[in-house]
Amino acid sequence: MRVSKAGRLVVLVSGSGTNLQALLDASADPAYGAEVVAVGADRDGIEGLARATRAGVPTFVEKLGDYPTRAEWDEAIAARISSYEPDLVVSAGFMKILGAPTLEAHPVLNTHPALLPSFPGAHGVRDALAHGVKVTGCTVMLADAGVDSGPIIAQEAVPVLPDDDEAVLHERIKVVERRLLVEIVGRMAREGWTVSGRMVRIGNARGEESK
Ligand code: GRF
Repeated sequence: MRVSKAGRLVVLVSGSGTNLQALLDASADPAYGAEVVAVGADRDGIEGLARATRAGVPTFVEKLGDYPTRAEWDEAIAARISSYEPDLVVSAGFMKILGAPTLEAHPVLNTHPALLPSFPGAHGVRDALAHGVKVTGCTVMLADAGVDSGPIIAQEAVPVLPDDDEAVLHERIKVVERRLLVEIVGRMAREGWTVSGRMVRIGNARGEESK
């Protein structure tokens, strides 16, 4: 079994990019084991891209609307990602589903502000709140072709408090989500990981040869 590592990261964003910032901050320490080599987005003018620029990290934008078909956008964003030769792509608040050209070329990590498989999709926090759950949380997973359906790597619970609205709850989740994402990406980079079906194991526990 081949153990993959995660030293070179391409991070994809669509918004404020606080998860990206957490990765940029962590990777300032060489001991972290991973560095953000590029940041990609599906739209201009977002704080996530500004964070990358301030950190001196190259950026790219591929807008779905600039392509006649979804398949052509899929090919274009895969080519942009691949040009940076990432070991791992991190979808950190990237609001598009990546197609086969990216998923077949690179492992993709995704983060979601709910405890999957409950409340997948773009409104995980709102949907959890509307359902009346008392505990929600965040999930770090490998992306597959579905919506938030890939193998789960790590999860952490966050309580729902009586006066929470969507924004307040999401901010409380994001504090935990950033810490968990940084921890998992760092461990994958330093220790490697293997996937067997839906089981993701971090660490070269059985002593197989690492790449
Ligand atoms: C995160 O909660 C992510 O899971 C969700 O959108 C949020 C992105 O936050 N899909 P940020 O852009 O990293 O601040």
